[in-house]
Amino acid sequence: MKRLLLVLVGLALAWSCWSVWVNADVQQPVAFPHKTHVDLNLPCTGCHQRAEKGAVAGRPPTALCLACHAGDSKSAEIKKLKDYAENGKEIPWQRVWRLPPHVFFPHRAHVVVAKIKCQTCHGPMETLRKPPATPLKTLAMNDCIACHESSEKTVAAKTTEVRMMARTLLTDCATCHR
Ligand code: HEC
Ligand code: HEC
Ligand code: HEC
Ligand code: HEC
Ligand code: HEC
Repeated sequence: MKRLLLVLVGLALAWSCWSVWVNADVQQPVAFPHKTHVDLNLPCTGCHQRAEKGAVAGRPPTALCLACHAGDSKSAEIKKLKDYAENGKEIPWQRVWRLPPHVFFPHRAHVVVAKIKCQTCHGPMETLRKPPATPLKTLAMNDCIACHESSEKTVAAKTTEVRMMARTLLTDCATCHR
């Protein structure tokens, strides 16, 4: 009886995971391995430069890839990359992380001002040998607010008073919903 129950629970879990996976699965046009590139000591913001400048982190332009991949290669993935470049096209990367449109998320405030590591929100991207089909880690509203509520994280604020104000601001609905 106990065993039957376990099987049923297992099936239910498998089914629910499968249906989520099918809905959210993203196939990228080139099988880009993060691990290979981060192992070369390329910083995350070397390729995702806009993360330090604005709201969106962005994907690197194909020209940046060619700086290293212009030479001959047997790899089918590198051939695809060069085909896009030769046709004057950017690689049509798909978005994997995406908040609902009513939420505003600025990278610069978190990466530059608060100095939060990319991995805190994105998980261990540096371990990936192929593009993620689904986010390694997601943030629900409670996760955003939990961090905004912890005063020691409100780095820019020097005095208690300013810290209190900053905390109120960071948990105000209008800060994230615009
Ligand atoms: C050599 C350039 C390069 C470096 C270095 C790099 N990335 Fe990427 N990143 C990419 C490319 C290309 C994609 C799109 C393909 C993919 O998803 O793997 C991407 C995708 C991502 C995505 C998914 C975005 C989305 O929603 O589609 C995240 C998150 C990300 N990178 C974080 C990181 C982090 C964190 C680091 C450092 C540990 C890093 N990247 C280092 C090139 C790079
Ligand atoms: C600083 C140099 C550098 C940059 C910039 C760079 N790569 Fe690479 N990449 C490498 C090296 C080194 C390897 C491992 C050796 C190889 O396969 O050529 C590699 C491997 C790869 C592979 C695996 C090839 C295979 O089939 O095994 C892919 C795919 C790839 N890179 C895509 C990209 C894309 C897309 C970009 C731009 C977003 C990019 N690379 C930017 C240096 C770089
Ligand atoms: C405080 C959490 C947090 C930190 C830190 C963070 N991100 Fe993100 N990132 C997000 C969220 C949330 C999204 C989805 C945003 C949206 O849909 O508007 C996202 C989206 C992205 C995307 C895809 C969409 C885009 O903006 O281009 C990339 C690429 C990315 N992040 C890379 C990075 C890199 C690289 C770093 C470190 C330099 C980083 N992120 C740091 C939370 C974070
Ligand atoms: C690990 C901690 C952490 C997480 C997680 C986090 N934030 Fe923040 N966020 C901060 C800090 C610290 C600041 C204040 C930076 C400053 O002093 O300007 C901030 C600032 C902001 C701001 C205000 C930026 C400005 O300049 O007005 C917005 C909007 C915001 N976060 C949205 C979000 C959203 C949406 C999420 C979840 C998807 C999120 N944050 C997750 C720490 C975090
Ligand atoms: C720090 C950022 C942040 C603050 C502050 C914030 N939210 Fe959100 N909110 C989010 C994010 C991120 C989502 C989307 C992810 C999710 O649904 O958990 C969201 C989703 C929602 C949704 C949609 C839920 C759903 O199921 O689709 C509502 C409604 C909402 N928020 C209302 C509010 C109200 C009301 C406040 C003020 C009391 C508030 N939020 C404050 C970040 C924030």
